[in-house]
Amino acid sequence: MALYSEKVMEHFRNPRNVGVIEDADGVGEVGNAKCGDIMKMYLKINDDEIIEDVKFETFGCGSAIASSSMATELIKGKPVSEAMKLTNAAVAEALDGLPDYKMHCSVLAEEAIKSALDDYYSKNGESANKSGE
Ligand code: FES
Repeated sequence: MALYSEKVMEHFRNPRNVGVIEDADGVGEVGNAKCGDIMKMYLKINDDEIIEDVKFETFGCGSAIASSSMATELIKGKPVSEAMKLTNAAVAEALDGLPDYKMHCSVLAEEAIKSALDDYYSKNGESANKSGE
């Protein structure tokens, strides 16, 4: 079996939702101190708390790029409550798996989205519902 799934390679070569949202409602940036990779997420959230748009910038490895691409696809058009529950395991699964030593790349995607959601909640003065885990 190849080290990386077809899906990982495909999202790495052709990542979805790359870029910046200038008037984002939530922005999150996280990094992994060990590998030095950095991920930034931008969320556009409407009055019904639906994620209308999401973009990312990732300075990192191929798995981090594929993970952020897949993560944005998984939360686009979804309610924030659902995005809050996104786990790195779900991202990795949607990519048909990641090698063990690359799982932390999908963790970065989960953390970036949660960080952007936290930013959104803090700007909107609502308490984040983090108890659903
Ligand atoms: Fe660090 Fe992939 S090696 S995010």
